[in-house]
Amino acid sequence: MSGMLIVANWKAYVERPEEAKKLLATAKRLSAVRRVRLVLAPSFPFLGLLAPGNRSKVAFAAQDVSPATVGSATGEVEAAALRNLGAKYVIVGHSERRAQGESDALVAEKARRALAEGLIPILCIGEKERDPDARYLSDLKRQLASVFSVLSPRERLSVIVAYEPVWAIGRHASDSIDASDLGEMVLYIRKVLASYLPGKSAQKAMVLYGGSVEPSNIRGLAGGSGVDGFLVGHASVDPGMFGPLVKALA
Ligand code: PGA
Repeated sequence: MSGMLIVANWKAYVERPEEAKKLLATAKRLSAVRRVRLVLAPSFPFLGLLAPGNRSKVAFAAQDVSPATVGSATGEVEAAALRNLGAKYVIVGHSERRAQGESDALVAEKARRALAEGLIPILCIGEKERDPDARYLSDLKRQLASVFSVLSPRERLSVIVAYEPVWAIGRHASDSIDASDLGEMVLYIRKVLASYLPGKSAQKAMVLYGGSVEPSNIRGLAGGSGVDGFLVGHASVDPGMFGPLVKALA
């Protein structure tokens, strides 16, 4: 197992500044664990609280970004603001945002805005459910194509793909995907990426998995599946789970 990226997607779980600070302190301690790189993705207010002045090995991601390029956009948070706060990554197209009506075209615009400001997009894709004829594969292909087709060849190389099957999100380790199915999905995603990336770059593109990753299944999912890391939701804000989960990869 080479180095793994763990992105802690706090979603809207964290409500108090003290809790946010505690989770960062824990992450800083865990950043000493070998072969693991940690990224915290707090909601906007807590990103603003924690990211400025951060000099630790822990990096920050935003959970979303505005497609706006002008200041007259009430309620939006622009990519430049995120970068200036100290974010390095931004999650785009999370299924919980797509469920609010976010289209493939909007996700693509967000990815472009992020890249234009030097942020690395973590593009979430994933099927709602599986059908026996594997038609869900074409949904994944469409989600990838809508973003990669509008990016320049150079921009494409920076995108991190997070495969998050919607049916596996927010449940328990036992409801997650199994390692061999995950391996097949990673191969499929790299195959689609090969149409957009030159030479052998698709083999090196970063592909993460998310959906009920917990301490009990992370190691099994990492071994042999070809993933480069994980997007972790509920377990990332559970103090009893996050430490063991990170250490399980060491
Ligand atoms: P979960 O969420 O780990 O709670 O399933 C993952 C995600 O939605 O990113």
